[in-house]
Amino acid sequence: MSRNAYIVGTGHAVPDGIITNADLEKIVDTSDEWIVTRTGIKERRRVDAETASSDLVAEAVLNALDMAGWKPEDVQGIIVGTVTPDYPFPSTAALVADRLNMGKIPAYDFEAGCTAFIYGLIQAKAFIESGILDRIVVVGVDCLTRITNWDDRSSCILFGDGAGAVAVSSEGPGGRLGGWHWGSDGSLGEYLIQWGGGSRNPASHETVDKNHHTIYMEGSRIFKHAVRAMHDSCMEALKRDGTPKKDVDLLVSHQANLRIIDATARALELEPEQVYINIQKYGNTSAASIPIALDEAHRSGAISESSTVVLAAFGAGLTWGGMILHW
Ligand code: ACO
Repeated sequence: MSRNAYIVGTGHAVPDGIITNADLEKIVDTSDEWIVTRTGIKERRRVDAETASSDLVAEAVLNALDMAGWKPEDVQGIIVGTVTPDYPFPSTAALVADRLNMGKIPAYDFEAGCTAFIYGLIQAKAFIESGILDRIVVVGVDCLTRITNWDDRSSCILFGDGAGAVAVSSEGPGGRLGGWHWGSDGSLGEYLIQWGGGSRNPASHETVDKNHHTIYMEGSRIFKHAVRAMHDSCMEALKRDGTPKKDVDLLVSHQANLRIIDATARALELEPEQVYINIQKYGNTSAASIPIALDEAHRSGAISESSTVVLAAFGAGLTWGGMILHW
């Protein structure tokens, strides 16, 4: 008998600290009007000095487990998509598995920029449908404010911190993981990159002096690719799923720029109420943006028991991906 994978719990966590557009006007040459018109962002969250990604992950996972009715020891594996782990190693996933007393389960981090959560769902689907695992937690987390270049007005206005998690099970009911699409193009990698701190340019006084431990982004070049990648990922995932776009109830996409979300919604011929948007509150939270939006949509009733939901993302790599969920 063929096995399916179902999202049976969702959760998220964001820090309390808020940075408004007015706060940013004090540190770079920008305006609330420019930021809202060009991006849709009004404010974003920022972790305090003591908080790291694993703290947000632990809270998001507990929320997802609570909805699923799972105890930590029910979880058979945890995977965390992030570009801002607590440490380069050990993995944030292993730290959280230990902190929540999940036992000696497989736990690892992986990196696909803002597309990581969709990459994670595709991994979870493969693990469950193949019979390797029955219950897995998939997390997207980033604290991008830790690697933001606060001198660069074209990027520092975009980013915020947060975590989102889902509990995925071989047993429904829940949101069944359906058709998917994923891809990458490393030839475009230099458009969105952290130059320092890896094996190419290990941390040194020079890399710190040159600000190479922060995000370097060529926003307008990425914009073009993002619009195309989100569109193509949605269409390919729908095709693989055998679902026509007229059957889509809700788009929950990566929250990078309102104009990119709008372009994707137009391609799917969706009405405004069929698009979940929270970019105004959180900005771009990278790997966390889709699971945060999914949890909010789920808890607010925007996703109901028979909803067909499209997820779509793009990010550093460049990477992109899409997935169809059937509730
Ligand atoms: N305030 C005021 N003016 C600004 C600001 C700002 N914060 N930032 C840039 N400008 C200026 C520029 O200097 C430029 O001025 P000029 O015409 O005198 O040269 C003008 O505004 C237009 O700049 P563009 O870069 O063309 O503006 P654009 O409309 O493309 O918006 C933005 C920039 C918001 C960055 C957009 O390109 C974007 O969202 N790109 C996608 C980025 C993205 O999603 N990246 C994340 C991927 S996810 C991940 O993995 C983290």
